[in-house]
Amino acid sequence: MAYETILYETRGKVALITLNRPKAMNALNAQLIAEVTDALTHVEQDPKLGASVITGSDKAFAAGADIKEMASLDFVQAYVGDFISPWDRVGQMRKPVIAAVAGYALGGGCELAMMCDFIIAAESAKFGQPEITLGVMPGAGGTQRLTRFVGKSKAMEMVLTGRLMKADEAERSGLVSRVVPSDELIGEALAAAEKIADFSQPIVMMAKESVNRSYETTLAEGVRFERRLFHAMFGTEDQKEGMDAFVDKRTPQFKNR
Ligand code: HXC
Repeated sequence: MAYETILYETRGKVALITLNRPKAMNALNAQLIAEVTDALTHVEQDPKLGASVITGSDKAFAAGADIKEMASLDFVQAYVGDFISPWDRVGQMRKPVIAAVAGYALGGGCELAMMCDFIIAAESAKFGQPEITLGVMPGAGGTQRLTRFVGKSKAMEMVLTGRLMKADEAERSGLVSRVVPSDELIGEALAAAEKIADFSQPIVMMAKESVNRSYETTLAEGVRFERRLFHAMFGTEDQKEGMDAFVDKRTPQFKNR
């Protein structure tokens, strides 16, 4: 697919996806989401690639779903067309996806970032779910994921008032893994992705699957699930290599990466 709304490049084992609708603050229209999911699917299918970074511009990661595209939708079109459902693909990727957020991450932009495995924020980042000001509410997981990240009180305030959260508050409340100077954002996100891509790919995928399971099940079930995957790891060459390398005081050469 030739992309028009994103830039796609690979650097070694990492893919960098840059949302690129500068005139619309990277508003997320159907084409952009189709292109992002196509690029991520390509990463899934390419054994040489181990992780992705999604980023936007200095001014906006993404200012939300494209209001101009959805303004005239009626209920039947939204319901029958299952509006927004293609976005779910982003959260279903098995290889890690990191969001590198500078500027506005609003509405669907905040939701897209939260679909990623973790968010690294520039000091300029501003997160919010301002849908209430448009006569709607979040529709791509915002009421659910934001609540799990920051707790009910903050999520409720943000969803009901549209208040934005700056980077320092986002870090304090667990929405982002860390805040970095704006000019270091891409470098830091790519470095994290490269680090991940250098580990054993199946082990990374199992670790991601196991952390995500904690959102979907009880503690006892989640621990049982983790234990099964943990046991399975002893059937991989990479477990042998990783532990042998530690004992031998050398750098591991993982086979599956
Ligand atoms: C379509 C958008 C847009 C959006 C900005 N633009 N956000 N177009 N959809 N979400 C367009 C503007 O119309 C304008 O186009 C251009 O981008 C620049 O925006 P300005 O408003 O002039 O810039 P600025 O004054 O710097 O303000 C930036 C901003 C503001 C604070 C981010 O644009 C803003 O409030 N945007 C909307 C944020 C929002 O409500 N997001 C939630 C969307 S609903 P023109 O052509 O006029 O130059 C949503 C629902 C999700 O996401 C549900 C499921 C996915």
